[in-house]
Amino acid sequence: MSPERHAPTTVLPVIVTTAAELGARLDAARAEGRTVGLVPTMGALHRGHAGLIRLAAERCDVTVVSVFVNPLQFGAGEDFEAYPRDLDADADLAGRAGADVVFAPPVEEMYPRPIQTTVHVDGITTVLEGAFRPGHFDGVSTVVAKLFALTGRCRAYFGEKDWQQLAVVRRMAADLSMPVAVIGVPTVREPDGLALSSRNVYLSPAEREVAPLIHLALQAGAQLVADGETDPVSISSVMVSVLATEPAFDLHYAVAVDPHSLVSPPAFHPGDEVRLLVATRLGRARLIDNAGAIVGLPQTPYDRKADTTCAGA
Ligand code: PAJ
Repeated sequence: MSPERHAPTTVLPVIVTTAAELGARLDAARAEGRTVGLVPTMGALHRGHAGLIRLAAERCDVTVVSVFVNPLQFGAGEDFEAYPRDLDADADLAGRAGADVVFAPPVEEMYPRPIQTTVHVDGITTVLEGAFRPGHFDGVSTVVAKLFALTGRCRAYFGEKDWQQLAVVRRMAADLSMPVAVIGVPTVREPDGLALSSRNVYLSPAEREVAPLIHLALQAGAQLVADGETDPVSISSVMVSVLATEPAFDLHYAVAVDPHSLVSPPAFHPGDEVRLLVATRLGRARLIDNAGAIVGLPQTPYDRKADTTCAGA
């Protein structure tokens, strides 16, 4: 045994709070030929975020994690004020996952004056989360557009956990020719299947115990698709019936849709990719989750491997 034992060394990331300093650092890195990875977050970092950061750090020379609770994407009566905030813990987790820079601007830095220009992605923002949280995706696309502008040419990593958000960001970056490659990363789960989320802290012990039913409902839906079911209504019914066994759920939707348009066709066809999405209130928390499956393809992997296709950066 070695006489000296070293604690694992982690270089703490640099914390940057101004747009000017972020831009200067990243321009300097790119001028030296280094590539930049961006992981946008609202903080309260957990292993789900860590997965994104680790992937970015593996693939890019400089990894920036932004930590900004974006007021623009919260509706009236939502949890903007209550949203958990702990920058020291976030910087520690980000550093251990491989981040070089944590960009944590105050609200006045991101929005120095009332904003008159926003980004609106049409179509896919009106359904599902868009229907339940009016204006939410305009807030997301606007802040992500600003983060992309401040970061510059980069690869940006987003979780499949927020499938609709990933679709919106991809579409925005493509439609507006942003010099950013948007990369989707599979969902990280607790051992019992519950998707990690900063909002899981709102769950009481009793609610936490039933929360994995969301994952079970998605698995039941995915199995039906894998078995060849083509009717979106039947797939949805199976998921609804699993969640109906627990009265604590106030189900907002459980649907089977085309993964890109987010709309249910009259029928799927063998070989079609299907995305199953669930949103439910559970006590104080509103939880969302999703899964993919292919019609008639048995043993479809529950979550696809990381999609590393890069376009534009
Ligand atoms: P936030 O909820 O903090 O999530 C930041 C990123 O982490 C998102 O891309 C989200 O999909 C991903 N993520 C969250 N939980 C995950 C899990 N269990 N597995 C894998 N990835 C997970 O999403 C936002 O912040 C904001 O809307 C933001 C994009 C930062 C704009 O404000």
